Amino acid sequence: MIAPHASLRHASRRRLLQFLAASPLLATGEALAQAARFPDKVISSPQEALNVFDFEAAMQKAVPPAHYGYMATGIDDEATLRANRDGFQKFQLRPRRLIDVSKLDLRMELFGRTYASPIVIAPTASNRAFHEDGELAVSRAARTGNHLQMLSTVATVSIEDAIAARGQPIWFQLYPTNKWELGDALARRAEKAGVETIVVTVDVVARQNWETLARLWRTDTRTCGPCHGLGLKSYVKLKPNFNGLDISGINNTGATNLTWEYLKRLRDTVKTRIVVKGLLTPEDALLAVDNGLDGIVVSNHGGRAEDNGSSTIEVLPEILEVVDGRIPVLIDSGFRRGTDIAKALAMGARGVCIGRPYLWGLGAFGQPGGRARAGSVAAGNPRRHATARRADAETSHADDGQAELRRSLS
Ligand SMILES: Cc1cc2nc3c(=O)[nH]c(=O)nc-3n(C[C@H](O)[C@H](O)[C@H](O)COP(=O)(O)O)c2cc1C
Repeated sequence: MIAPHASLRHASRRRLLQFLAASPLLATGEALAQAARFPDKVISSPQEALNVFDFEAAMQKAVPPAHYGYMATGIDDEATLRANRDGFQKFQLRPRRLIDVSKLDLRMELFGRTYASPIVIAPTASNRAFHEDGELAVSRAARTGNHLQMLSTVATVSIEDAIAARGQPIWFQLYPTNKWELGDALARRAEKAGVETIVVTVDVVARQNWETLARLWRTDTRTCGPCHGLGLKSYVKLKPNFNGLDISGINNTGATNLTWEYLKRLRDTVKTRIVVKGLLTPEDALLAVDNGLDGIVVSNHGGRAEDNGSSTIEVLPEILEVVDGRIPVLIDSGFRRGTDIAKALAMGARGVCIGRPYLWGLGAFGQPGGRARAGSVAAGNPRRHATARRADAETSHADDGQAELRRSLS
């Protein structure tokens, strides 16, 4: 963390709490657990939320079943989806006492820019499926809270419009597709629009088996074609980032032919930083460093890409070890509580991205970050977590901060 800064401290903390309050942070099996405890309660305003999970039920009520299913689904048995939450229980924070946490600084500095908190908006596709304002609402919320936003290739707004709404460069997430020329054109378009960092997602290879989506889709009586188009090309044509680009010859937005050569070639094509999203092993993390990439997002796509059954928090330490501080490492998948975030940061992650939680807020109440207050509890009390963070800083020279976490023998 960087040094506290007088007036920014309180404002930053307040913005973080407001963001979490109004943001969508948690999903299906998760909502079910909540519903079992409070079967009749679906919040009708962000202020009623006691935690971020409360937003999911409200979103489910507000959006069509197929759209909710698209957000909530994992892949296959959804073992990875569940593991992403369970993984946090395998690590415990060691709260240190008698540390002055009256002044907090939650800011994250990354590639020369400073954000109000280490909570980053992960790229998610098709946000207008959840609210008519879609990604523009997300960009505006990111602007209000000064959060780093990553915009999906298949967003329902263009890079240019999202940057205008955010008021500063966002990161563009690139699905390269199977055709070099198209990925290249998307990357150049992003660069021209002012994007400073391109995040290449590499974990979508084959078509995903999303059974939760399929089941909920069957219950949806609406006709999908007019909104979605039929088939890949119609789908892509409806996505503004592809406007004016030649989409002939593509067979997927993901790519089965992607290799490290692709990233090296892209590295030589655009001047932006290149961050790779979707790595899960130290071997690949080392390759990312060796290939001159600028950063890594440890991610299993929120349990939507393949069902390896492991959480991202479990693989984070070995990845951080081999990267050894040479490039920043961010992480996502399953982050819902302040304690989850504190664990990743204490391990050494630079930032934590969230996906479904902000979609819950978006679907339930539109632009996240509005007037909500009560949801601040979703983050837990930053002062409480700070006793671990600050103690972490104290010990970091001696043992790289690992002293503040204990792994369960499970
Ligand atoms: C509805 C939905 C759409 C997504 N679309 C994309 C996408 O277009 N590109 C991408 O790189 N990741 C995408 N993701 C993955 C997120 O970037 C992120 O890795 C994941 O949501 C993090 O897990 P969480 O939802 O548990 O926070 C999507 C996730 C969801 C839930």
